[in-house]
Amino acid sequence: MSARAAELRAQGKEVFNFTVGEPDFDPPEHVLAAAESAVRKGVSKYTAVPGIAPLREAIVKSIKARTEADIAPNNVCVGTGAKSILYNLATALFEPGDEVIIPAPYWVSYPEQVRMMGATPVFVETSAEDRFCLRPEALRKKISKKTKAIILNSPCNPTGMAYSPEETRAILDVCKEGDFWIITDEIYAALLFDGRPSASFYGIGKDLRDRILLVDGVSKAYAMTGWRIGWVVGPRNVIAACELVQGQSTSHPTALAQAAALVALTGPQEDVEKMRQAFEKRRDVVVEELSTIPGLKVPKPEGAFYAFVDARGLIGKRAGDNVLTDDLAIATYLVESAYVVTVPGTPFGAPGFLRMSFAMSEDTLRRGAKAIRDAVAKLT
Ligand SMILES: Cc1ncc(COP(=O)(O)O)c(C=O)c1O
Repeated sequence: MSARAAELRAQGKEVFNFTVGEPDFDPPEHVLAAAESAVRKGVSKYTAVPGIAPLREAIVKSIKARTEADIAPNNVCVGTGAKSILYNLATALFEPGDEVIIPAPYWVSYPEQVRMMGATPVFVETSAEDRFCLRPEALRKKISKKTKAIILNSPCNPTGMAYSPEETRAILDVCKEGDFWIITDEIYAALLFDGRPSASFYGIGKDLRDRILLVDGVSKAYAMTGWRIGWVVGPRNVIAACELVQGQSTSHPTALAQAAALVALTGPQEDVEKMRQAFEKRRDVVVEELSTIPGLKVPKPEGAFYAFVDARGLIGKRAGDNVLTDDLAIATYLVESAYVVTVPGTPFGAPGFLRMSFAMSEDTLRRGAKAIRDAVAKLT
């Protein structure tokens, strides 16, 4: 889809790219200035494997402020982005024969990383009616003697949904009945809408912190995706195992990026809030524009910057001789006829859906939505 979009762009067409997985903002100015000065100060040597001490201390403080948890710097391992951190965890924890529970729809790397370790992803279906939040009884049915971990993600990519504190507690209560790791990917935690309270699995799961591994980073909150800084917070035994994995693979994330992440965490936070507000407004635009298109249903995203559009109403429609049989066919039709690029839901475990990022200006969102509306109107 991206390759075709690039071809169309090369032909001079205006392409609406709804696939973007990163904020279209720049990192805060003070972070850029700190990075520049770090270059000149000679921040160019190896660092400690789990990251520089001031950054780990800053993470400890931010965890304390957000969740009241008292942890030590050696409960933190900083790595090359949250994805790499999740991979380190998978390497440290999973082996053939293990089962890892993953609610569907899911971020595509979770099952792939599990499979790369020879372990088995066990999916639990959720529904649009439940805002794609896991039902406790559905989770309970999937727990077995082989369950090694569950991977949770709220706010969620691809669904844009976020658990409430009550929903979080109910899931933790079921986890408590078993004995497995709880990996919670909270990379979008700074991007919650409508004044929703934080519902961190780590924050709420006080009684389970010896089993919870909190994954976070600077990519989404500070618009620093390319800097590649993420971290895991958890019990010392798992953090030590992650240090071993990291010590024999990437060693540590780039020293300059660590210096920048330190300033991001400890400096003024206004830019994070400004970006959050911008995404909330764009969320409103996306919902307003897309939900009036016949055949599409748009659950209102509660966080992150993705709308997860139910396009099942378009299945069976025709564009000339071409029948739209599934989400891939719908996404292909939108690219070819409207130059609109979306991500089909099937790879996320949600056939019939399209993931549409709203990390773009309101004007582009409106024009992209109009292009979809016109293309849908041509279907019979
Ligand atoms: C749910 C989720 N987790 C983790 C990541 C990876 O973040 P990072 O850039 O820190 O590797 C992403 C990036 O798209 C994501 O959507």
